[in-house]
Amino acid sequence: MRSSQISIRGLLFRWLLWPLLLVLLVTVLVGYPVALSPAKATYDWVLLDTAHSLARLLDARRDVVPRALSGTADILLRADQFDRIYYAVHDLEGNLIAGDAHLLPPPPEAFVSRELLYDKKMDDEPVRVAALRVGIHGVEVIIQVAETGVKRGEQARRILSGMIIGELLLMVVVVALVLFGIGKGLEPLERLREEIGARSHRDLRPVSVDHAPLEVQPLVATLNELLGRLEAMLRSQQRFVANAAHQLRTPLAGILMQAEFVLSQNDPEERLRARESLKASTERTVHIANQLLALARAEAGSVGPGAFHEVDLCRVVEDVADNWMAPAIRKNIDLGYELKSAPVRGDPLLLGELLSNLIDNAIAYAPEGGRVTVYTMIRDGRAVLEVEDNGAGIPEDVRELVFDRFYRAEGAAGDGCGLGLAIVREIAHLHGGRTFARSSPGGRGTVMAVEFPLAAWRPAGIAAAGRAACPGRGGFSA
Ligand SMILES: Nc1ncnc2c1ncn2[C@@H]1O[C@H](COP(=O)(O)OP(=O)(O)OP(=O)(O)O)[C@@H](O)[C@H]1O
Ligand SMILES: [Mg+2]
Repeated sequence: MRSSQISIRGLLFRWLLWPLLLVLLVTVLVGYPVALSPAKATYDWVLLDTAHSLARLLDARRDVVPRALSGTADILLRADQFDRIYYAVHDLEGNLIAGDAHLLPPPPEAFVSRELLYDKKMDDEPVRVAALRVGIHGVEVIIQVAETGVKRGEQARRILSGMIIGELLLMVVVVALVLFGIGKGLEPLERLREEIGARSHRDLRPVSVDHAPLEVQPLVATLNELLGRLEAMLRSQQRFVANAAHQLRTPLAGILMQAEFVLSQNDPEERLRARESLKASTERTVHIANQLLALARAEAGSVGPGAFHEVDLCRVVEDVADNWMAPAIRKNIDLGYELKSAPVRGDPLLLGELLSNLIDNAIAYAPEGGRVTVYTMIRDGRAVLEVEDNGAGIPEDVRELVFDRFYRAEGAAGDGCGLGLAIVREIAHLHGGRTFARSSPGGRGTVMAVEFPLAAWRPAGIAAAGRAACPGRGGFSA
């Protein structure tokens, strides 16, 4: 699976930068007309002023409205090195009194006040017009002064380019600040990474939550939980290795000594006895080694719950039952089965290992000629496996202790190594189950029970697809 390659830095950068750029763009779009309007108003006032000057000029002349301005006045009025200037004086009927004939007046009703400013086209060129409605020597006239938009356009361009340069500079500053801010914001994460990265694989101390940023603290807490679990596992493995070494060293040394003893014996009878005792020691050592390996296998959960599939506990019993026939017969034990369907999700081999350890104990700790019964059933919505014997039972105060590794009750029969029930509990936990011991209903003997989550409810008598139903009652006795 490909990693997602998500970078917090990249995400923050994108999510901060694009909105900021959008804000800057909107600032230009909204700010430009706002910045332009004072400049536009200034040009309008100058144009109106010119119209007023023209009115005063006309008023100052004789007692009639002059039909034309003097050459100097005309030149002064039109003097502008950038724009073309037009002017016209009309009476209210629209008759030209002076100026440019093609600068037609607005209708008199257009005047809300005495002044009017508007845009129009002259000689195919846009112009701005300032119009005045005034009385000169008793005659109502409309005075208009118009100019092309070269100065205005130039002014607008300067304002716009000034704004764009300003915004670009602002953008550079914003990008630099955003990058700096993101870097600062991510510094605690970087420090955390360095702290964890600098550790050796044996250093499983919790990472300090105090220095982690508030948002990362839950993550650090989860990491610490994991480190705690890893440390517990590491310790248990170290304990296990130390115990295993201790448990194996003594019998192996014993085997070596017995082998040397066998070799040193000349008497055939002594030699035979020594060989038998060597065989017994070797068998015991093999048993210890097997139990240790079984525990290691169960503990490692080598299969893992992901690989589990539906297994009926009654099938698991059927699969291992044959192995226990001979040991039961040897001890004259009545070994019986009462099996009902009890589906669980699990690994049949590990479940078989679990069951074997329970039957092994029941046969070992039941008296000669005793009785051992294996049950499978569904009880209170859980799949249950029980092994009952009529042995001496386990005193109530050690019923939990018997599940500890290497625990053997004082004077326990046989030569077990105290790992069987630890293996049972480990496998049960791996399957999400729980184990407990109780005394038999009759008061004598032990019931070893393991409860598992039920895989799927199936009405009695309907077994897993393709397999026959569990046999119900059965068994054999010697
Ligand atoms: N059915 C039982 N009845 C009486 N005591 C039991 C029974 N099962 C277990 N015990 C006690 O619990 C102890 C631990 O059992 P466990 O199976 O873990 O170890 P073990 O049988 O001694 O060795 P092994 O590793 O060979 O199984 C036993 O030594 C025994 O004292
Ligand atoms: Mg045992």
